[in-house]
Amino acid sequence: MKSVIPLSIDLDNSILLSYYNFKKAFNQKHSIDISNDYNSFKKGLDSFLQTSPNFNSNLLIKNGEVVGTFNTLLLNKDLPEEILDTIVSFIDDDSFLYFIPEVTTLINRWKFSAKKIKTNVVNKELKNSFKKEGFREANISIYFHLKRNNINNKLIRHLIEENIPQQQNLDVELNKELKGNEINEVAHLMTTLLNDILRFDNHEVFNQTPERIQRVVEQHKRSNNNSFHLLLRNKENELIGISIIVFKKENPTSVNQFMTGVLKEYRGLGLPTWMKAYMYDYLQKNYPTIELIKTDCFSGNTPMIHINKKMGFEEAYRTTEMVYENN
Ligand SMILES: CC(C)(COP(=O)(O)OP(=O)(O)OC[C@H]1O[C@@H](n2cnc3c(N)ncnc32)[C@H](O)[C@@H]1OP(=O)(O)O)[C@@H](O)C(=O)NCCC(=O)NCCS
Repeated sequence: MKSVIPLSIDLDNSILLSYYNFKKAFNQKHSIDISNDYNSFKKGLDSFLQTSPNFNSNLLIKNGEVVGTFNTLLLNKDLPEEILDTIVSFIDDDSFLYFIPEVTTLINRWKFSAKKIKTNVVNKELKNSFKKEGFREANISIYFHLKRNNINNKLIRHLIEENIPQQQNLDVELNKELKGNEINEVAHLMTTLLNDILRFDNHEVFNQTPERIQRVVEQHKRSNNNSFHLLLRNKENELIGISIIVFKKENPTSVNQFMTGVLKEYRGLGLPTWMKAYMYDYLQKNYPTIELIKTDCFSGNTPMIHINKKMGFEEAYRTTEMVYENN
């Protein structure tokens, strides 16, 4: 018996519990932290669904148990760069193979709901299913893991002593929560940096609006997440560099780092490497339960791959971005 049902907080508790168990098993496999108990998970899910109007999820159910999800997120709604981001997750390959017809139906249903649709896949069969539906391969993302024992602390100590921001007359602030005008500044800098990332396929135009950043800030608060922003400013007080880390507040074991970058005029000075070093030093000193740092970048972003390897990161897995364009 199989069925596909839209995720909502009003579903039967037995289904939501099965969804929680699926997420727990899936997250464990991918080293992602999750709430330790069902009630706090449900609270976080409720707030996430309420604050994410462009998010949609379908649960793939086999014999009463959730074995997969098909999620979509509409980015840049009504703008020329509108794109529907879809994520298909399964607990194992067998479940995926069992649901191929339903996944194909969902893909086709979504095909015309945005100007463009993209998805990131690991599974070869899934990649082939998308290809058959007219998707092409775009960028490859590399997911990196840095285990606590592998952090290059020798390099970190050296960089902290060298204090490159001070040499460059830059102010450093490790900010726990963005507020006021910082939200606009971060949205602006992130849009610039995201569109500047080295990659093989430039099909996607990124647009980080202040509203979106504000929503993410609220979401982290309600989901009891810590989100740290390391901000670099020049003498004119302009924001020129950023790096973000997010992790669960309670007993965090893993953290996600993303969006590390500096404006073009400030590149080649070692600032992004320094920002990573500063944050890993801070994390080790203040959050002793953390065992794993995760990050990812496009396979074309050779300077970032170089920086990650220098810090001790190892490649964990790759995903392929598949894109469908409506003409
Ligand atoms: C990627 C980015 C952060 C690098 O900035 P940067 O100022 O050059 O970084 P750093 O000076 O700290 O370090 C760059 C390192 O890459 C090396 N490098 C530069 N070009 C390289 C290349 N083509 N291949 C391999 N290594 C390269 C540099 O030699 C340096 O290493 P070293 O210190 O061991 O000599 C910057 O280009 C950026 O902000 N891009 C836009 C945002 C982005 O891509 N962020 C990452 C998204 S996850």
